[in-house]
Amino acid sequence: MTKFKVLIANSSVPQIAHDLLKADCDVRVCEAEREPILQNISGMDAMFWSSHIKLDKEMLDKAGPQLKVIGTMSAGYDNIDVDEIRKRGIKFGNTPGVLNDAVANVAVLLALMTSRRYLEGIEAIEKSEWSHKNGPQWLLGQDISGSTVGIVGLGGIGQTIVQRLKCFNVEKFLYTGHKEKPEGHILSAHFVNMDTLLRESDFVIACVPLTKETDKMFNAEVFSKMKKNAIFINVSRGAIVNQPDLVDALRTNRIYAAGLDVMTPEPLPSDHELLKLKNCVITPHIGSATVKTRNNMAELAAKNILKALKGEPMIAPVV
Ligand code: DGY
Repeated sequence: MTKFKVLIANSSVPQIAHDLLKADCDVRVCEAEREPILQNISGMDAMFWSSHIKLDKEMLDKAGPQLKVIGTMSAGYDNIDVDEIRKRGIKFGNTPGVLNDAVANVAVLLALMTSRRYLEGIEAIEKSEWSHKNGPQWLLGQDISGSTVGIVGLGGIGQTIVQRLKCFNVEKFLYTGHKEKPEGHILSAHFVNMDTLLRESDFVIACVPLTKETDKMFNAEVFSKMKKNAIFINVSRGAIVNQPDLVDALRTNRIYAAGLDVMTPEPLPSDHELLKLKNCVITPHIGSATVKTRNNMAELAAKNILKALKGEPMIAPVV
């Protein structure tokens, strides 16, 4: 019997995905670059996607009409033309849920590093400016305990962040989004509008997916509505932020600090202005980058593909 053909469009995908797919399919692997993908995509029944490369009309045309399934090893899929996929009747799944813990941990890491002025502390040590003469008022940061934390987008990651931060004795959790959620009640988080969240929060944590609606939603007007001591954390996508406006808000101390796991562009050039700000902690989009999480994501993406090829519902379908 002829086996389905699957392209794994990234040679660094965890082995578990190769093993699962190879058991049932003919698997081809290529580098996660546009040209190698275009060269290898033709005639595939399924594609395992694992990069921020655009999966667009050109890619789909090149793949051909036999393409049945796409599985992305990511929760976000703003780089993928979902409308075009839907139009062609292709099944498409992603990997939500399995990365909630890892991404939430990075949000907490950034909240701690920014509120406790990590970059300034490290610089003081490196420049031999850490001295007993500095006194008890030196390098004072802010507390998470007693604070108000505002979550923009109370999905799986936002909910996990609330669970994590509960043990820091946060005074109040707020969240905003399209609608009030039962999970908000369970977590004792209050549903408010965006303006209220910005006005009251000491930490504003962005967990919304990148869509037309959220594109550059964090702009000068939004930063101007935040408290002066507000710390902005982004573990979603860089493009939800108007970055020059954020740089300005940080440089003028309009807000206290920012912790960013995502930014524009990625990779960030080493001379970028964000890296010159002492009140901005950057991590290189490592939210889901733990061995266990990446293995779980690879496994789920491969299982989505295999299920759809067998005509069964995907575990995590988008389309
Ligand atoms: C995701 O899964 O969307 C992470 O941000 C990795 O891209």
